[in-house]
Amino acid sequence: MGKKKSVQDFILMKRAGEKIAYLTSYDYPSAYFAEKAGMDMLLVGDSLGMVVLGYPTTVPVTMEEMIIHAKAVRRGAPNTFIIGDLPFMSYQESADQAVHNAGRFYKEAEVDAIKLEGGRRMADRIRAIVDSGMSVMGHIGLTPQSSGQLGGFKAQGRTAESALELMLDAKAVEKAGAFSLLWEAIPPEVGKAITESTKIPTLGIGAGVHCDGQVLIISDMLGAFEAFTPKFVKRYANLGEIMVKAFSEYITDVKTKKFPEEVHMYRMPPEEVKKFADMLHGKHFKPDNAGF
Ligand code: KIV
Repeated sequence: MGKKKSVQDFILMKRAGEKIAYLTSYDYPSAYFAEKAGMDMLLVGDSLGMVVLGYPTTVPVTMEEMIIHAKAVRRGAPNTFIIGDLPFMSYQESADQAVHNAGRFYKEAEVDAIKLEGGRRMADRIRAIVDSGMSVMGHIGLTPQSSGQLGGFKAQGRTAESALELMLDAKAVEKAGAFSLLWEAIPPEVGKAITESTKIPTLGIGAGVHCDGQVLIISDMLGAFEAFTPKFVKRYANLGEIMVKAFSEYITDVKTKKFPEEVHMYRMPPEEVKKFADMLHGKHFKPDNAGF
C-alpha cells in the first residue's frame, strides 16, 4: 500500500507532468478497492444524492448525509487523500457557515480537503476556509448545484466571452488559496488554457486531456447508474448488468430450491441429529410450556 499523498505531492505531480487519477466514492467497499488499486484521490461528491440516494438532483443532499458517507469512505481508504464535497446551502449563506461545515468534514470524517462550487462569487468562502487551516478544491464550469441558473446540465465556456469568464473565475479561486481546481464540462481548449495559466493542479471531468488529472463518478464508470449518462463518461464495467443477472439467478435458485446447497448448511453430528429427533418426539419437549 502506497503512502498517502498530500497537497504538495499533487502540486509536484502537476510540475512533473504526472497525471492525477481521481474518482468519487461514497462507501466503505468502493473506497477500499479504490485504495487497493492505487487511486491518487477520492471525492465524496454530493453526486451521492443522485447516484446512491436516488434524489433527482444534488440540491436535497444534507451535511448529515455527506458526513455519514465520508466517514465510511475514510474507514475504507485510510491511506488515500479524501475530499469532502460541501452540499448545497452548506456554504452559500456566509463565510462563517462555510468554515463551520468544512470543519465538520475535517473533525467528523477526517477528510484531507473540501470542495465547493463557484468561482469569483465564492472566493471569500475559499479564503475563509483556507485561513482556518483547511485545504480547498474549487469547482468551476458546469456546477450542478446551480444548474438551474445555468439552464440545466449544460457544457460551459463554449463561446470566447464565456471562456474568458471561466479564466477569471480560475484566477480568483487560485488567488483565494485553493490547492486545486475541478473543471466540469468545458471545451478542451479552455481546459488547456486554464491548466497552463494556473500553478495549482486542474482536475477535469469532461474538460479534455490537458487537465492535470481526470475525475469520474464511480457509478457512471462502473455502469451502476442508468438515469442518464453524460457525454464525458467512459464506462469501464457494467455492474448494472452483472447485478441484474446475479439477482435473477438467485431468484430462480430460491424458487426452484437449487439454493441453499449442501455446502451452505451447518450440519449437526449424526448422533446429535438422532438425539434431537428423540427429544423432539419425547417427553422433554413441551411447546405449550415454552414461556411465551
Ligand atoms: O459531486 C461530484 O461527484 C462532483 C463530480 C463533478 C466529480 O462534483
